[in-house]
Amino acid sequence: MKAAVMGYGTIGSGVVTVLETNRDVIASRVGEVIEVSKVLDLRDFPGDPIEKKLVRDYMDIVNDPEIRIVVETMGGVEPAYTFVKAMLKSGKHVTTSNKALVADKGAELIRIAREHNVNFMFEASVGGGIPIIRPILKCLTGDVIEGIYGIVNGTTNYMLTKMAAEGSDFDDVLKEAQDHGYAEKDPTADIEGHDAQRKIAILTSLVAGRQIDYQDIPTEGITKISATDMKYAEAMKRVIKLVAASRKIGDTFSARVAPLMLPEGHPLYHVDDVFNAIMLHGNMLGDGMFYGSGAGSLPTASAVVGDIVDMARHIDKNVFIGWDDNKLILADPAADTYRFFIRTADDRSAVEAAFGSVEYVDAGISGEVGFVTGEMKQGDLDDKVQSLSDVRSCIRLA
Ligand code: HSE
Repeated sequence: MKAAVMGYGTIGSGVVTVLETNRDVIASRVGEVIEVSKVLDLRDFPGDPIEKKLVRDYMDIVNDPEIRIVVETMGGVEPAYTFVKAMLKSGKHVTTSNKALVADKGAELIRIAREHNVNFMFEASVGGGIPIIRPILKCLTGDVIEGIYGIVNGTTNYMLTKMAAEGSDFDDVLKEAQDHGYAEKDPTADIEGHDAQRKIAILTSLVAGRQIDYQDIPTEGITKISATDMKYAEAMKRVIKLVAASRKIGDTFSARVAPLMLPEGHPLYHVDDVFNAIMLHGNMLGDGMFYGSGAGSLPTASAVVGDIVDMARHIDKNVFIGWDDNKLILADPAADTYRFFIRTADDRSAVEAAFGSVEYVDAGISGEVGFVTGEMKQGDLDDKVQSLSDVRSCIRLA
């Protein structure tokens, strides 16, 4: 069976490697060898075995009737969207690792695939190599998923782990994550939380069966997390993690991406380095957690190849995915309740005037106070913080 790869970067080249390394075992599972016959990329790859398979125009793939399966690993919404739509409309199956594309156009591409009796799959778009899309769509389809709590960005998890363990500098650890091939082309998407925002939008859409617009999800990244915050977290026996969460509230969901201070014993506490984990709460399952390699070439390619095999086995059949483009309005994020850790240069009397009785945290830092509020609504916190003059950090507790 012939396949094509669009985008020969970190993931696309990983897909070619996985298909070659595991060629025989994959053939035994599909019933025939999967052969990559065309690779779309504008760059040259002198000396690379795929050199002779390179094409510059996506229409060369559209017009090749032998190619039944297409892998999209280009990243970004355009031109990936135009190319994927053309592939589906010409009767080719498509798998993608591109969360920007899936979060933005997933419902529409699923519908187009259904109309053309092919499949649009995207296991690699969330959690890298961790199976999470298929478990939600298949294994847990008899459950009502009431909560999703995930560490879904490998780059930031790697950075926060290093910063906590080694007191490393933000820019140095970002460079290391990029060198390992974890980061997006523009790492702003990782460190500002936009990558995690798209991933929780995808998971929430699948669980809700409706479109969640990622722009509606309040999102904070890790750029404001400092070495001093890490010292306070240590004093509190907590770790700081970037958590993408979504909770069912009545007929809708409340979703947020933000750094959280997790206590020892929390299931996500020990998820370190590039590892990701997604914890689900189902009304029948109770809690379940999916853990593994969340980014990088081969783990992510492994998930893409899983889709290729699934599509090859369903070559003449569309596998139903319930995600329609009828948008779901999320719950008001101001109504979410948390306890908050705050650092301020204001004195204790100003703190107590604003927040009443609080728990102070001593991390040996002079010239400021650190404290934890009682449980309160996000909206009330936002008002009270205004009455302090010099707030240095504000981090939610789990
Ligand atoms: N940049 C992403 C991450 C890649 O660091 O998790 C995997 O989606």
